[in-house]
Amino acid sequence: MAVTGKPVACQDSGMLDLLITNASLPDGRTGMSVAVSQGKITEVAEGLHAPARESIDAGGHLLTPPFCDPHFHMDATLSYGLPRVNESGTLLEGIAVWAELKPALTADAIIERALTYCDWAVARGLLAIRSHVDTSDPSLLPVQAMLEVKRRVAPYIDLQLVAFPQDGVLRVPGGVNNLERALDLGVDIVGGIPHFERTMAEGAASVKLLCEIAAERGKLVDMHCDETDDPMSRHIETLAFEAQRLDLQGRVTGSHCTSMHSMDNYYVSKLLPLIAESGVSVVANPLINITLQGRHDTYPKRRGMTRVPELMAAGVNVAFGNDCVMDPWYGMGSADMLEVAHMGLHVAQMTSQKGIRACFDAVTVNAAKVMQLQGYGLEPGCDASFVLLQAKDAVEAIRVRATRLKVWKHGKLLAEAAPASSMLNLPGRHGPVDFLKDL
Ligand code: FE2
Repeated sequence: MAVTGKPVACQDSGMLDLLITNASLPDGRTGMSVAVSQGKITEVAEGLHAPARESIDAGGHLLTPPFCDPHFHMDATLSYGLPRVNESGTLLEGIAVWAELKPALTADAIIERALTYCDWAVARGLLAIRSHVDTSDPSLLPVQAMLEVKRRVAPYIDLQLVAFPQDGVLRVPGGVNNLERALDLGVDIVGGIPHFERTMAEGAASVKLLCEIAAERGKLVDMHCDETDDPMSRHIETLAFEAQRLDLQGRVTGSHCTSMHSMDNYYVSKLLPLIAESGVSVVANPLINITLQGRHDTYPKRRGMTRVPELMAAGVNVAFGNDCVMDPWYGMGSADMLEVAHMGLHVAQMTSQKGIRACFDAVTVNAAKVMQLQGYGLEPGCDASFVLLQAKDAVEAIRVRATRLKVWKHGKLLAEAAPASSMLNLPGRHGPVDFLKDL
């Protein structure tokens, strides 16, 4: 291939492994080329041409780093209807249904369902997932199963596991011991659920204890925090305090934080700077909390998602998680982080162009920051892991929940899909329908 633009820094052989040309990037640059060698991005620039084993014209479509899901429950996924459907749709009935299912769980069934979900994830360009794993049962069966899943999917998905005491680390006898044993087995992150402990005081004590365990072991923290409509549920305040006290800044995440939706505005005006100061990230889960929260309301019904734009404006790193797909808490979903971003921007009313792009960041770069992923991004030196979407930019990608045309990990093609298309057969209006429109 003739060199027609700026030459690329090639490896010894002088041949790139992969060259993608004419791509749009999430930051708005267009006509960009991305050069790949030995699984890494070696160059990102406009109009590059160089010899490559494979060259792909992106056709102006959006090339993005992979989607990341910073909050999921993979041990429960695809178990919807087992042993019964959650009829009320509440968090508490979901926990009860999960408790009914637990005695019948087998490691093989958990692994099989999780691997199926991981197939869906790869097809959707979702290559990094943080999954909470229930540690309430002394058998630690879900932990053993998910460690096996993590091992099996390691070549294609960065799977982080959080030790999650679903039934309350202090509420359940032996809860602390079970959680510590899960960490001993290799679970990466310390979780918690302070709003499900018996009292507010015990919830706060659980936050303190769990952060101390994390500090002692050099682990990250990711706690379900205040997933309730109770405005007095203020465990996020304790979490931020403990993150500072134990010098865990940048290593702690508060997930859900839905009570913030219902809190008094004056209190929130004090709380937001405290969270920003503490370096605690926040993960909102729009699909789940728009369905789980507000169930005790008549009308008006609260939306129940945390205050996303306000947290972002305060300088807090905010990401969106999928949380649940076809499990006791949620019967929908398909590993589609664009669907998550789409719901997030609706619930948070982030409808400006800037707001929509921020929602795209919430399922890509912000989520990668929560997960502290190394080598993530579209810069020289980053892993050659990215997704080509059938959309020209991030706004359009969310609007049409764009088809993932190609998905690469470390320069290897993992999945591909034909472009979505529809044909009209109306009187006088025959032909293809194009859902992509220039403004
Ligand atoms: Fe969750």
